[in-house]
Amino acid sequence: MSKYNSLVIVGAQWGDEGKGKMTDYFGQKADLVVRFAGGDNAGHVINFNGEKHKVTLVPSGIFNKKTTNVIGNGCVINLKNLIEEIEIIEKHSSEHGNLLISNKAHVLMPYHIEIDKALEEEREALKIGTTKKGIGPAYNDKISRMGVRICDIPRPRFKEEFKVIFNYNKKFLKNMFNVELDINFDELCEDLQNYYLKLKHRITDCDIFVENAIKAGKNVLFEGAQGAMLDIDHGTYPYVTSSNTSANNASIGTGIGHKLIEKSLGIVKAYCTRVGEGPFPSELLNEIGDKIRIVGNEFGSNTGRPRRIGWFDAVALKHAIRTSGLDSIFITLLDVLTGIDDLNICVSYEINGLKTSNMPANAGDLWDCRPVYISTPGWKEDITKVKSFIDLPDEAKNYIKLIEKICEIKVEGFSVGPDRNQTILYEDFF
Ligand code: GDP
Ligand code: IMO
Ligand code: MG
Repeated sequence: MSKYNSLVIVGAQWGDEGKGKMTDYFGQKADLVVRFAGGDNAGHVINFNGEKHKVTLVPSGIFNKKTTNVIGNGCVINLKNLIEEIEIIEKHSSEHGNLLISNKAHVLMPYHIEIDKALEEEREALKIGTTKKGIGPAYNDKISRMGVRICDIPRPRFKEEFKVIFNYNKKFLKNMFNVELDINFDELCEDLQNYYLKLKHRITDCDIFVENAIKAGKNVLFEGAQGAMLDIDHGTYPYVTSSNTSANNASIGTGIGHKLIEKSLGIVKAYCTRVGEGPFPSELLNEIGDKIRIVGNEFGSNTGRPRRIGWFDAVALKHAIRTSGLDSIFITLLDVLTGIDDLNICVSYEINGLKTSNMPANAGDLWDCRPVYISTPGWKEDITKVKSFIDLPDEAKNYIKLIEKICEIKVEGFSVGPDRNQTILYEDFF
């Protein structure tokens, strides 16, 4: 079997697929783990040796002592929250690796959070259900060229230049939403300088650092946030996040050539979940969905919101495989399906009387579509201690094989519990 030195891991559904757990797992072998998009809207739970940790901005490889973790230029960083997160990790984890931050990453400002909240109210029926962390407005300022990058903060003219950006955001809040920004400019500048000084030893040219590591033959793992269906271009727009969550963004979000990344792995739940608003064709609004929510502890690790539950959606996964160019997938939370009599897999959508197995471009079509399922028997046995594919009940084996066949993608393994050692990888490739 081929071994790869560079691997990108992304969520292939609507987020919360267990990317954090899998990044931590592969992170045991990584010299570098590089997060390339998103901000502290992400929330990853990682369990090992009886410890349970949560990370949002810090890459999920942080709990491996030998791993250097990098927050790439594609991320938007709430510096205050990042510093708090680092402090918690340093205080509570038995061991942790190093952390570097790209000097080109954008700073998520307190006013972005205010705008996020105001916009959500303004949208009324078109509400997205954002995490209210300021993600959309921060990326908006980046694209509008009204953003602040980490490398701007120590510059002598920073305060003068930032005043223009600050005033623009203040006026935007006042004129658009009649919201008075309750943030003092001088105090914010002082805070930013203090955050910068606290993080200064970690801030560097990450693009050069990552490229050098790959060229030196180091093992480099790229970690995506959110999931393919929340991608700003290829997700269920407008019910998406504000960045490209797909594997292709790993090169842009870290500043290296895409040919340097050898393999892409999609993380896939054995069913589907979604947090926030937006169409969700295979949604289960019944007692099966409620059972899965409880057994899988499907409550947002970031906002605490109950996650919406659905049957496995092969249409969405095939779309993710195509738009991210996935080589293979890994199935998580298989244990959660234990005890369900029959399992459904959505294989196509019926839209206006026509069947399609392609993801429609417009979210409107998705609201109205009827999911078409195939059904396969479930299993009753506890699988949480299973150590190999052969040990699984036949029904669980069939379920995995069916996903592999319908989606025409290789399954690399599965996991049967939240712990690092409840992870079954068929063959080592990284
Ligand atoms: P991420 O955002 O993709 O990293 O996923 P989250 O951490 O937000 O959500 C996944 C949840 O499932 C976490 O609470 C994990 O601890 C948990 N988890 C991961 N893999 C498994 C598994 O195989 N079985 C069970 N029962 N829980 C899992
Ligand atoms: P991880 O990395 C699941 C969802 C929000 C909302 C939409 C836009 O843990 O998988 P945003 O705050 O980004 O503007 O919200 O995206 N969302 C997530 N859903 N997992 C996530 O991250 C998410 N990050 C954002 O609920 O519907
Ligand atoms: Mg999550």
